[in-house]
Amino acid sequence: PKAKRIRLDDQEDIKLRSASAAGDSVEERGTRIRVFGRVHNLRKQKDVIFIELKDGYGKMQCLLTGKLAKTYDALTLTRETSIEIYGELYEVPPGAKASLNRELHADYFRIEPIWKAAGGEDAITTRVAPGADPTTLLNLRHLTLRGDKASAVMLVRDYIEHAFLSVYRSLRMRKVSPPALVQTQVEGGATLFKFDYYGETSFLTQSSQLYLETCLPSMGDVYCIEKSFRAEKSLTRRHLSEYTHIEAELDFISFDDLLDHIELVISRVIEMILGDPETASHIKRLNPSFEVPKLPFLRMRYSDAIDWLNEHGIENEDGKTHAFGDDIAEAAERRMTDILNQTVLLTHFPVEIKAFYMQKDKNDPRVTESVDVLVPGVGEVVGGSMRMDDYNELMAAYKREGIDPEPYYWYIDQRKYGSSPHGGYGLGLERFLAWICGLHTVREACLYPRYMNRCTP
Ligand code: 4AD
Repeated sequence: PKAKRIRLDDQEDIKLRSASAAGDSVEERGTRIRVFGRVHNLRKQKDVIFIELKDGYGKMQCLLTGKLAKTYDALTLTRETSIEIYGELYEVPPGAKASLNRELHADYFRIEPIWKAAGGEDAITTRVAPGADPTTLLNLRHLTLRGDKASAVMLVRDYIEHAFLSVYRSLRMRKVSPPALVQTQVEGGATLFKFDYYGETSFLTQSSQLYLETCLPSMGDVYCIEKSFRAEKSLTRRHLSEYTHIEAELDFISFDDLLDHIELVISRVIEMILGDPETASHIKRLNPSFEVPKLPFLRMRYSDAIDWLNEHGIENEDGKTHAFGDDIAEAAERRMTDILNQTVLLTHFPVEIKAFYMQKDKNDPRVTESVDVLVPGVGEVVGGSMRMDDYNELMAAYKREGIDPEPYYWYIDQRKYGSSPHGGYGLGLERFLAWICGLHTVREACLYPRYMNRCTP
């Protein structure tokens, strides 16, 4: 009979043959199907070969029996070999090892000569053996990506991006695509990647924020999902040289509106990803203890965080008690978030430790209308603020920071032609994913991570 081509997770119009069916009448048969995939796992017994087939959509247990199990291709089968299998689907008892309630009993299979995966010394299981050192695993990222954990993380990542797009659309925000090659800095000169652009000094973008601000008059509230680049000169669990930056900018808002919006977007995205059965099952396996953040998020001012750190004996990087004006370092921030064990909106950072463009608090000009979102296990996942909307104040800020305003003429012009109270934020997708999936480092949240001294594969 004709075989229906399916992906391994397809459920539609598929009849399973009951395991106990005795007869061979057409009515009792399961749907005859054909599938393509790679041999993820393999168990050879005397008269039967069990193949765990994987195709990126799911996995399926396939059985080769009788003559099929004695063929040359079956006897020499290696893991990761590509294969096409035909056969009938049988029910399996619930709780069996198969990821679905069914297994494929093959009546025919096909392996093109060039589909065979290397064996022996060169077998994938030898090259990415369990316990291989981290450098080897990173050099072989193209192969480790085929593993269960890495592929689950990438599938969750795909759905999270989809969730952001759909939540933003529901909020009537518009997607734009700012340039990656720029001549202005956003987050300080120390982490700029410089390069020669037809004889002019240019940079890889650190953030699309300034460009998003220029879109407000014509497009309303906007967002982008683009790469940002930071020449981070340290190796940490949460710093990459290239990361995916989800940034949004909102027009005619107050600082409280900004905080409410961030809380809403994060909550809705999490609700959506946990509402998708496939994504939710990956997350459950990757991070069984993940807790949905409680609403409302805890709001804490920077100055109160400094007091909190001192009350809890958490010292600054110099081993001293924290003082107003200190940057809260990664280690201290992480300890605080872990002890609080909830999502925190940390606000009102001092002017001196924040970027030039941040709006000052009208009631306390020592601090800015700024926010970091901190989450357990990771620390900061979002940084945002209201933007300085007054021309003279912005020019004074350039002066204070020692930045030449000339290349920013287009940004400054926004304050000359219809300025407005506006603000926005950037969320690091890899950090967000590390939180949701319980990853030790953001490197595991990237397809091919880029950080100090790694640009391969
Ligand atoms: O706090 P940051 O530097 O803020 C900005 O770039 C703003 N201009 C964004 C905006 O308002 N549109 O970065 C925002 C977020 C951080 O909270 C973090 O999640 C992520 O970007 N991030 C990094 N992620 C991985 N590796 C790095 N080196 C990162 N630097 C920042």
